[in-house]
Amino acid sequence: MDAKYDTIGVDYANLRKPDHRIQAAIEAALGTAKIVLNVGAGAGSYEPVGKEVTAVEPSSEMIAQRKPSNASVVRGVAEDLPFPDNSFDASMAVLTIHHWTDQATGLSEMRRVTRGPIVILTYDPAFRGFWLADYIPELVTLDEQQMPKLSLYQQELGPVDIQSMPIPHDCTDGFLCAYWRRPSAYLDPKVTAAMSSFWAIDNVSDALQSLKQDIADRTWQERYGHLQQLNECDLGYRLVVAR
Ligand SMILES: C[S@@+](CC[C@H](N)C(=O)[O-])C[C@H]1O[C@@H](n2cnc3c(N)ncnc32)[C@H](O)[C@@H]1O
Repeated sequence: MDAKYDTIGVDYANLRKPDHRIQAAIEAALGTAKIVLNVGAGAGSYEPVGKEVTAVEPSSEMIAQRKPSNASVVRGVAEDLPFPDNSFDASMAVLTIHHWTDQATGLSEMRRVTRGPIVILTYDPAFRGFWLADYIPELVTLDEQQMPKLSLYQQELGPVDIQSMPIPHDCTDGFLCAYWRRPSAYLDPKVTAAMSSFWAIDNVSDALQSLKQDIADRTWQERYGHLQQLNECDLGYRLVVAR
C-alpha cells in the first residue's frame, strides 16, 4: 500500500487547513447525497458535515491527524475500494488522484461503488502560467507526469462537467499554488514541506535563492505585481463532476 504521505503528511493538518470557499464548491457539487465516500481522504479535509461519510486513505500518518468525527475510516487505496457496487450516493476525491498508481482503475472503482455524483478536485496538466514555474520549470514536467489529462475523467466516469476552481488570495489550504499572492511563503521550508511537488523535485535551493533575491530587490513585484490586484486567480485547479 502506497503510504508516501507517512512522510509528507507530518504536520499536514496544520498546514493544509480546508479552505471554506473550496469546501462550499465541493459541497454544492455533492448536492443532496446523504452517504458519501471520500477517497484519498488524508486528514479528512473537505468532508461534508451532516452526511454519513466513509473515508478511504492509505497513510496511517494522515489517518492519525483526523479530527474526531462520525466518519468511518478505512485504510485502503482508490484502485481497490473494499465496498460492494453502488454503496454510496456520492463520492469525492480531493487533490489525491495524482498520487494513485493506476488512475483509470481508481476512477472506475469510484464509478462502480457510487450511485450518484463523483466530485474530483484536481489540476489540469495542460495549464500554464503559474509564476513559480518560472523559477522551478520542473513543476511543469512533474504535472505532466503525475496529473491525468482531463479527457481521462469522461473516459472512466462518463459525461463530466469541468469547472475552474479559482484559488483565493488568502487560501487556507497550503497546496502548491495556494500562496500565489504571498511569494515569500515559498521560502519557508515548513510551508513547502506540505507540498508533495517539493518532495518530488530533487534540488530547489538555487531556484528559491533566485526567488528570494527577486523579492528582496523587487524584481518579483515588477514581473508579477499585477497579481496583487486580484482576490482570486485561475491557476489550473479544476472541479470535475460526473453525474
Ligand atoms: C494531497 S493529499 C490530499 C488529502 C485530502 N484529500 C485533502 O484534500 O487534504 C493526497 C492523499 O492521497 C493519498 N493517496 C496516495 N495514494 C493513494 C491511492 N492510491 N489511493 C487513495 N489515496 C491515495 C495520500 O496518502 C494522501 O493522503
